Amino acid sequence: MATIEQTVRRTVDIFDRCRRFTAAREMMDRGLYPYFQPIEASHDTEVVIRGETKIMVGSNNYLGLTHHPYVLERAREAMYRYGTGCTGSRFLNGTLDLHETLEQRLAALIGAEASLVYSTGFQTNLGVIAGLVGRGSVVVQDRLNHASLLDGSQLAAGELVRYPHGDMGALRRVLERNRDANGILIATDGVFSMEGNIVDLPALLEIKEQYGARILVDDAHSVGVLGPNGGGTGEHFGVQDRVDLTMITFSKSFASIGGAVAGPEEVIHYLKHHSRPLIFSASMPPSAVATVLACLDVMEQEPERRDRLWANAAYLRAGLQSIGFDTAESETPIIPVSSGDMEKTFIFWRALFDGGVFTNPVLPPAVPENQCRLRTSVMATHTTEQLDRVIDAFRTVGSKLGVVGAGG
Ligand SMILES: Cc1ncc(COP(=O)(O)O)c(C=O)c1O
Repeated sequence: MATIEQTVRRTVDIFDRCRRFTAAREMMDRGLYPYFQPIEASHDTEVVIRGETKIMVGSNNYLGLTHHPYVLERAREAMYRYGTGCTGSRFLNGTLDLHETLEQRLAALIGAEASLVYSTGFQTNLGVIAGLVGRGSVVVQDRLNHASLLDGSQLAAGELVRYPHGDMGALRRVLERNRDANGILIATDGVFSMEGNIVDLPALLEIKEQYGARILVDDAHSVGVLGPNGGGTGEHFGVQDRVDLTMITFSKSFASIGGAVAGPEEVIHYLKHHSRPLIFSASMPPSAVATVLACLDVMEQEPERRDRLWANAAYLRAGLQSIGFDTAESETPIIPVSSGDMEKTFIFWRALFDGGVFTNPVLPPAVPENQCRLRTSVMATHTTEQLDRVIDAFRTVGSKLGVVGAGG
C-alpha cells in the first residue's frame, strides 16, 4: 500500500496548467499584449490610458449614452434613493420597483408579454438555456454563437447540437434527426459579435415553425441598433411576433451592465422560479437599472442617434474598404478587418494603439489560425474627424505591415 508521502508525490497539482501557460507573458515581454488595458478616464469616444488619449473604436457603447447628462442624472438619483447595491437576489430582497418598471418597458420594446431582468447578459443566457433545456431536450446553435449561449448548454441537462454558421440546410437536417426530442430550442445571435452580420431570421423562423421548435435570439448587439425603434432583430425583419424569446444585454447600447429575456408570460414566470443564475445571484444595482431606463427614454426622444450610428458605420466601413481592407460579412456597426496571422495581428494592434486608436484583436479559437482580425465598432457619437483619424491610422499601419497595398 502506498504511503501518504508517495500518494502526495504522485498527485498532479491542479495549478500545473497555470505554470505551463506562458503565451500571454511572452506577449507582455514583447510589449504586444493587448488585454486588460487600464483606462484612467473616459470621455465617451475617447479614453486615456497611461496618460495617452486614444480614440475608442473597441467598445459596444453604440448609442454613446455612457456620458449622456440625462442618463448620468437618473443613475445618480437612483443611487441616492435606493443606495449603491441591492445586496440580494431578485428572488428575495433584491427586487426594486425599478426592476419591474424596466421589465415592463423592455417587454413593450420587444413586443413580448413579459420580460425578466438578470444581473448580466451572460447570466441571462446561462439561466434561460439551463432553465429550459432539460433531460432529453435539444438546444441547436449556430457555430459562431456567443460563448454565453454555448456555455448555457454546458449547464443544461439536455443535448447541444451545433450547425455551421448560417447553414439553414444543416439546421433543417438537425431538426429532422431530432424530431423525437423532448422539445427543441434553437439559439442564435441576432448580430454575430465577431463578424458583424445579421442572422437570416425569416429563414430560421420558417424552419423552426415547420418543426415545432422554439427560438431564442441573442440581441445583445441588436437592441438599440436594429429596427425602427431599436427593438432588435425581430423588429428589423418585421417578425417580432414570431420570435419566442429575445435576450438583451445592457452592457452595450444601454450603457450599463445587466441583461434580460423577453417572451411569453408563462415562460418568464417559470424562469423566475427555476433559473439558478437569477435566483442565486444578487440583482442589478439601482444606478444600473435607472441607467437602462434613462437610455430607453433617450432612445425614444433622440431617434436621430441611431441614424448617426448607421451613418458612422457606413462611413468607417467604406473608408476601411477603400484602403483595401477586407471587412468580410460586416453589415452593422461591428466592423472587423482581416489582419493575417496572430503575430501580425498583435503587431498591428500595438501600432494602432501607439497611433492613438483602441481596437480589439480577434484570435483563435474565435477565428481560424491565419484569419485573425482587428475588430472595430462604431458609436453614434464618433465625429467624422475621429473616424478619419482611425482610417488614416489603419492606412499607415496596414501599408507598413503589408496587410494592404501601400498605394491604398
Ligand atoms: C452576443 C452576446 N451575447 C451575450 C453577451 C454577454 O453580455 P454581458 O456583457 O451583458 O454579460 C455578449 C457580450 O459580450 C455578447 O456579445
